[in-house]
Amino acid sequence: MALLSKPPFLPLFLLLLLLLPFTSSSPLDPRQQVALQSLGFPSTLKACSNPSPRDNATSCDGASPFRHIISLRLTNCSTDLDLPLTVLQSLYTLKSILFLDCPIPPPRKIPPQLASSLHSFYSVASLRRIQGSLLSPLKNLTELFVADVPVMASSPIMIISQMAGLIRLTVSNANLSGPIPHHWHCLDLTHLDFSFNRLKGPIPGTISMLGSLQVLNLSSNFLTGSIPDSIGDMVSLKNVSFSNNTLYGEIPSSVSDLIDLVHLDLSSNQLNGSIPSFFSSMKKLKTLNLENNNFQGIIPFNTSFISKLEEFRIGGNMNLCYNHTILSSKLKLGIAPCNRYGLPVSPPASRSDSSADDVDDYGPGDGSGGSGGGDRHGPNKVLLGIAIGISCLVFLVAFLFCLSRVCGDKRERSRI
Ligand SMILES: *[C@@H]1O[C@H](CO)[C@@H](O)[C@H](O)[C@H]1NC(C)=O
Ligand SMILES: *[C@@H]1O[C@H](CO)[C@@H](O)[C@H](O)[C@H]1NC(C)=O
Ligand SMILES: *[C@@H]1O[C@H](CO)[C@@H](O)[C@H](O)[C@H]1NC(C)=O
Ligand SMILES: *[C@@H]1O[C@H](CO)[C@@H](O)[C@H](O)[C@H]1NC(C)=O
Ligand SMILES: *[C@@H]1O[C@H](CO)[C@@H](O)[C@H](O)[C@H]1NC(C)=O
Ligand SMILES: *[C@@H]1O[C@H](CO)[C@@H](O)[C@H](O)[C@H]1NC(C)=O
Ligand SMILES: *[C@@H]1O[C@H](CO)[C@@H](O)[C@H](O)[C@H]1NC(C)=O
Ligand SMILES: *[C@@H]1O[C@H](CO)[C@@H](O)[C@H](O)[C@H]1NC(C)=O
Ligand SMILES: *[C@@H]1O[C@H](CO)[C@@H](O)[C@H](O)[C@H]1NC(C)=O
Repeated sequence: MALLSKPPFLPLFLLLLLLLPFTSSSPLDPRQQVALQSLGFPSTLKACSNPSPRDNATSCDGASPFRHIISLRLTNCSTDLDLPLTVLQSLYTLKSILFLDCPIPPPRKIPPQLASSLHSFYSVASLRRIQGSLLSPLKNLTELFVADVPVMASSPIMIISQMAGLIRLTVSNANLSGPIPHHWHCLDLTHLDFSFNRLKGPIPGTISMLGSLQVLNLSSNFLTGSIPDSIGDMVSLKNVSFSNNTLYGEIPSSVSDLIDLVHLDLSSNQLNGSIPSFFSSMKKLKTLNLENNNFQGIIPFNTSFISKLEEFRIGGNMNLCYNHTILSSKLKLGIAPCNRYGLPVSPPASRSDSSADDVDDYGPGDGSGGSGGGDRHGPNKVLLGIAIGISCLVFLVAFLFCLSRVCGDKRERSRI
């Protein structure tokens, strides 16, 4: 807008854009050219060309007399590739370094100048085994993404305590142990993903210090305790997963304050109490996964809410049931219908008799319980039909056999 409102600047700006590739043609820093070659980049490589999204790649600044590499991506490395200190020293201008499927031995340390230059460190299935002390000096990082490689640290705080400017933090499937930090230095964090680790202990209420958080993924750890009430303070949350832990207690009512929530996964914990009805007024919700917990009572949702969701999972909650005058059994929720007392009808043990009776308590004129029963008996009827068919066939064969014997006998006798 500012540019458009001052006409003379727009053509000038466009001219500059056009000239950019020609004006910034100074050569790459020779020391960095050598470093790249030692990493197996072909010497003919145009080191400063646009990086393609898959290959090994670099990008450069436009400085003169020499340009410098500001990002480096290594993919599919051979395992004997070496990353010696001297090479890392000459790559001191890197802002971003990315290893993808690059299981080379990690460097022993990252030289101080490079450490303070790096804004983004990314390692997926790479570097074999990363010491926390390799990462902790990278204090200017805004993005740290480590996945599918063990990270050796006594707790997450050992890694991130100096990284005050972090915005996105992922340490996933990394065998990371220890507690969730009580105190956070990186208050601008928008993404926090510690999924698939060995973190233990509670989710501290102080996590709500992270007021800008949009993604909070603590799935598949060993977390216990209850979901902190303060979660409702993190009003920017869109993605939340606490699945696959051993959290207990009820869903805090403050969750209703998370009006931007899109995906919520609390599956495979030991959460109890009733399912709050406020979910049905969360306009942006697309995924709600509450399966494999100890929730109880009647599901407080109607069909129109559930079918609006892209994913709704509720099975594996023994004491939960649905009111079959409100929810059709066709939704296949994986839980029992309620009897008139709001309790699940007895499970399969005494199946056909008691459950039919309980459902009939609602009186006639509603087929959903019946149709569920019909579905259950469907396969049995087919089996019965096949069984009858087979026995008829066997009988027929036996009959024909006997008949032939009798006739044979008669014939023999008549011959005598
Ligand atoms: C990336 O570089 C490594 C060696 O540095 C090489 O083994 C690998 O084949 C390269 N990958 C691609 C996609 O060029
Ligand atoms: C690595 O190589 C494999 C097969 O050689 C290929 O399927 C994969 O996409 C490559 N990965 C990257 C990041 O280029
Ligand atoms: C790194 O952060 C420090 C402050 O912690 C700042 O003084 C320094 O300029 C930053 N370095 C770079 C290369 O961004
Ligand atoms: C994962 O961490 C545990 C201890 O927390 C350790 O015993 C185990 O060796 C680690 N596994 C790997 C692959 O590093
Ligand atoms: C948010 O959650 C959905 C569903 O689990 C997932 O597909 C998506 O990748 C997540 N987004 C982020 C940024 O984690
Ligand atoms: C959490 O992380 C797991 C694995 O990394 C992923 O599959 C899942 O989609 C994420 N969930 C959310 C809600 O972001
Ligand atoms: C839920 O579980 C907690 C602890 O496991 C227990 O104290 C509480 O009474 C339970 N609440 C309900 C409604 O069952
Ligand atoms: C279903 O529930 C939602 C939210 O509680 C409500 O707005 C809507 O009117 C209900 N729809 C029907 C058909 O009852
Ligand atoms: C099920 O819903 C119907 C209609 O809203 C209501 O009359 C009945 O009391 C409900 N049953 C239970 C067990 O809450």
